[in-house]
Amino acid sequence: MQSYWEMQEHFDVIPMDRQAYVEEVMDHYKNPRGKGKLEHADFCAKDENPLCGDEISICAKVKAGKLQEIKFDGHGCAICIASSSMLMEKATGMKMEKALKIKREDVLSNFGEISPVRTKCALLSLKVLKLGICSFLGKKAPLE
Ligand code: FES
Repeated sequence: MQSYWEMQEHFDVIPMDRQAYVEEVMDHYKNPRGKGKLEHADFCAKDENPLCGDEISICAKVKAGKLQEIKFDGHGCAICIASSSMLMEKATGMKMEKALKIKREDVLSNFGEISPVRTKCALLSLKVLKLGICSFLGKKAPLE
């Protein structure tokens, strides 16, 4: 597990007002919400970050068009895990069509400014969630 100080290296600049972002990210990384296996899921999807090979899978139960329960699993850096955790919180209970409209910017805004390389880490779980929803709905997955 990465330390607070190792974590800070993932950010380009850490002015004082950025510390709140780092602390929030560290909290999600150390205590990830919605991490684990989901039995009897209606869909599962997984993908990897091509830059590092880290992998995230997401499984969900669907009820009345909503993501009734979602869990993620896999391995990744602190930003990847924290981002997955934040996405589980955000998307639980959300209509699938609405979840498909979650934008990259919505996810990236959780991190303040991160380097372009790290955006792949932050966006992996969103990509996986959209892949899963699209396969469930029989839609074409959006381009990254
Ligand atoms: Fe692998 Fe971030 S370094 S997901």
